[in-house]
Amino acid sequence: MDLGVQEKTAFVAASSQGLGKAVAIELAREGANVVICGRHRDTLEQTAAALQNTGPGKVLALTGDLSSPADRENLIASALAEFNTVDILVTNTGGPPAGKFEELPQAAWDTTYNLLLASAVEMIRGFLPGMKKQRWGRIITITSQAVKQPVENLILSNAVRASVVGLMKTLAGELGPYNITVNNVMPGYTQTARLDKLMAANPEFANVTEEIPLGRFARPDEFAAAVAFLASQRAAYITGVSLAVDGGWIKAIL
Ligand SMILES: NC(=O)c1ccc[n+]([C@@H]2O[C@H](COP(=O)([O-])OP(=O)(O)OC[C@H]3O[C@@H](n4cnc5c(N)ncnc54)[C@H](OP(=O)(O)O)[C@@H]3O)[C@@H](O)[C@H]2O)c1
Repeated sequence: MDLGVQEKTAFVAASSQGLGKAVAIELAREGANVVICGRHRDTLEQTAAALQNTGPGKVLALTGDLSSPADRENLIASALAEFNTVDILVTNTGGPPAGKFEELPQAAWDTTYNLLLASAVEMIRGFLPGMKKQRWGRIITITSQAVKQPVENLILSNAVRASVVGLMKTLAGELGPYNITVNNVMPGYTQTARLDKLMAANPEFANVTEEIPLGRFARPDEFAAAVAFLASQRAAYITGVSLAVDGGWIKAIL
């Protein structure tokens, strides 16, 4: 299937590793220009080098911390200076710490809000004018299966990510008239460094594959395929949805 994203520019946030990296690879392979970012220059440069030969588009690698308002401004300004317009925005960040309510200080809530919700709001605010002007855009938030079914011991993620879904759904209504679609993709357990860390630190996750109808964790490229489809021309009439890539883990009727 031709996704029709050649000559489009995608900004994929938090993309030097893991889910973001897989999305950047998929979009680069489909011919898009890709902007990637992360805090650590070494990893970012390795990923940028791998992306250079993946497709015909350009690759721009930007160092920055998505929890910092100043860095967010720089990331947006640098992407726009290079490409003028970002057509496809994929919001993403590192995950918040695990823990139960009484183990987490107020500061952890403030940091998580800033990382998960404020970063999505600001990235959208930064790239929206260009999308509106050209009357075409794709905004895709990466959240978690936790927005439909809380994951044990991850109260920060369970609580704050739900607000990103409220943002996405409301924006889908506001931006439809500009031909901008806004969707959310909910990863389930996917084999990345984040999952390895959670598994090592939290005995609760030891037998988690037994809860997954497909009986295994996802590969990052399986998650990325869903994001790339929503970013494509072929998904032109899909907006306001939350798509689970969870191997069937969520028990609710979606
Ligand atoms: N993997 C799963 O099973 C799963 C399931 C549900 C939800 N999620 C969520 O999906 C998101 C991505 O997860 P992942 O598994 O891909 O994580 P990961 O393997 O830890 O990768 C995170 C990526 O984000 C970058 N990053 C982290 N914090 C950042 C910050 N403050 N500013 C800029 N870049 C930052 C990291 O690079 P630097 O460290 O260099 O900054 C890295 O490139 C997380 O929010 C995670 O909680 C993951």
